[in-house]
Amino acid sequence: MSEYWDERFQAEGKIWSELPSPTAGHALELFRRNNAKKILVPGSGYGRNSRLFSTSGFETTGIEISRLACEVARVFDPLPRVYNASVLDMSFDTDKYDAVYCFNVLHLFLERERRLFIQQCVDKVKTTGLMYFTVFSEKRQLMAKAEKSRGIHMKASRAGRRTTLPMTTLKHTFKI
Ligand SMILES: C[S@@+](CC[C@H](N)C(=O)[O-])C[C@H]1O[C@@H](n2cnc3c(N)ncnc32)[C@H](O)[C@@H]1O
Repeated sequence: MSEYWDERFQAEGKIWSELPSPTAGHALELFRRNNAKKILVPGSGYGRNSRLFSTSGFETTGIEISRLACEVARVFDPLPRVYNASVLDMSFDTDKYDAVYCFNVLHLFLERERRLFIQQCVDKVKTTGLMYFTVFSEKRQLMAKAEKSRGIHMKASRAGRRTTLPMTTLKHTFKI
């Protein structure tokens, strides 16, 4: 998996631009309202979302499997601590977080890994903590159509094992 992402970041650079997802802005407001201070960003990529949190005063930690993306992140978003590791084994980090923000990583995994990943995140947040996940769901039909017409994303679907998660599956995944 890490080779696949290294190759993509090598070929495509900052694939999703330097701008954070609008969902990161939404999460930021939610985290502020709930007085969160310490944020974990699993699958943090080159830092476009973690940067919004770190520059807004949150103590931010990223976990990212691509060595190359970590290198880019350490320049683009130098404030957070970034671990080059898999989100499927976060046991090396014993910290507890007020909130988790995770953009489009969960759907990369099959069910057993999804459950493992969610459980690891649950273990990382404080009991009153928040978890904010985004995924490709069946609701994103327009997105799916656009991607079908682009060879590079079809390749991504195969090599990166990206799936589009039905809402029922999603709800089931979060019932731990
Ligand atoms: C669709 S990208 C999203 C990147 C980032 N969240 C963003 O929005 O810019 C998925 C990210 O998850 C990372 N990733 C994939 N599998 C991972 C794993 N097992 N552990 C940690 N990161 C992983 C990839 O390297 C990639 O950066």
